[in-house]
Amino acid sequence: MKTRRKQCVYHLSAIAAAILFIGSSCTSVPDGNPDNGERWYRMNRCNGCHGEKGKGGKAPAIAGLSFSYRQFIRKIRKPDSAIMPAFSSNLLSDADAADIYLWLQDQ
Ligand code: HEC
Repeated sequence: MKTRRKQCVYHLSAIAAAILFIGSSCTSVPDGNPDNGERWYRMNRCNGCHGEKGKGGKAPAIAGLSFSYRQFIRKIRKPDSAIMPAFSSNLLSDADAADIYLWLQDQ
C-alpha cells in the first residue's frame, strides 16, 4: 500500500511539471536580448511605418505593447491589414522577433 501511494505522488508531480513546462513555453515572455531589438526593428524597416522606437508614425504606436508575445508573433506573421507586410519566419526569425518584442516593451 505504502509504495503505491508513493508512486501516485510521483506521477502527480510529473504531470504538474509537464503542465508548468507547457504553460511557460506558451504564455510567458520569450528568451531574447532587447539590446538587439532596435537593430532588427530598423533592419526590417518597422521604423518606416511604426516610427522611431515604435512611438507611431504612419502606423499605430507599438511601443510598450500590452499584448503577449504570441499575439505579437501572430500580428507579424499575419497582419490584420493589407498595409502591414507579413513577415514570414524566413524574413524575421522567432528569435529576432523576440528581441524586437522585448525591446519595444522597454520603450
Ligand atoms: C508598410 C508599413 C509597415 C511596416 C514596414 C510594418 N508595419 Fe506593423 N503595422 C502597420 C499597420 C498599418 C498596422 C495596423 C494595422 C494592422 O494591425 O495590421 C500595423 C500593425 C502592427 C502591429 C499590431 C498593432 C496593434 O495594436 O494591433 C504590430 C505588433 C506590428 N505592426 C509590428 C511590426 C513590426 C515588428 C514590424 C517590423 C518587423 C512592422 N510592424 C512593420 C504597418 C507596417
